[in-house]
Amino acid sequence: MLASRLRHTWLPFALLSLVSACHDVQDQASKLTGGDVERGNASIRKYGCGSCHTIPGVIGAHSKVGPDLSGFAGRAYIAGVLTNSPDNLITWIENPQAVDDKTAMPNMAVSARDARDIAAYLYTLR
Ligand code: HEC
Repeated sequence: MLASRLRHTWLPFALLSLVSACHDVQDQASKLTGGDVERGNASIRKYGCGSCHTIPGVIGAHSKVGPDLSGFAGRAYIAGVLTNSPDNLITWIENPQAVDDKTAMPNMAVSARDARDIAAYLYTLR
């Protein structure tokens, strides 16, 4: 009797803790960058980053032209040349050629605000 009651109360708690773990990841990413994770997801779609990258959680972002951005928060380097830090990531998104003039990633004319939000989203990818 008690056991079956417990079984029924356990599930909502487990779901709650999953949801709050997810919020923790988003909070950390937005604190790290000062950006807005949800706006970042929308901006990634707006600029069409998914036409070259696979980006988990972004609708239509399944391309293989550029590197897969899955697990991006755990990468040590950006494009093999910059240490992976929020400021460096924002610089890269705004102007990849300022970092490496031979890179194939185009300058997408991303605004400073959008770059910050996109960086926030990319740091939720673990
Ligand atoms: C035309 C294709 C193309 C588009 C569009 C594009 N990228 Fe890239 N991106 C690349 C390529 C190619 C690289 C690898 C660059 C290098 O290593 O020099 C890259 C690298 C990156 C990296 C570093 C990945 C790593 O593994 O170190 C990030 C982050 C990134 N792009 C984000 C974005 C974002 C955000 C957008 C949209 C604003 C975007 N890219 C649009 C082609 C593209």
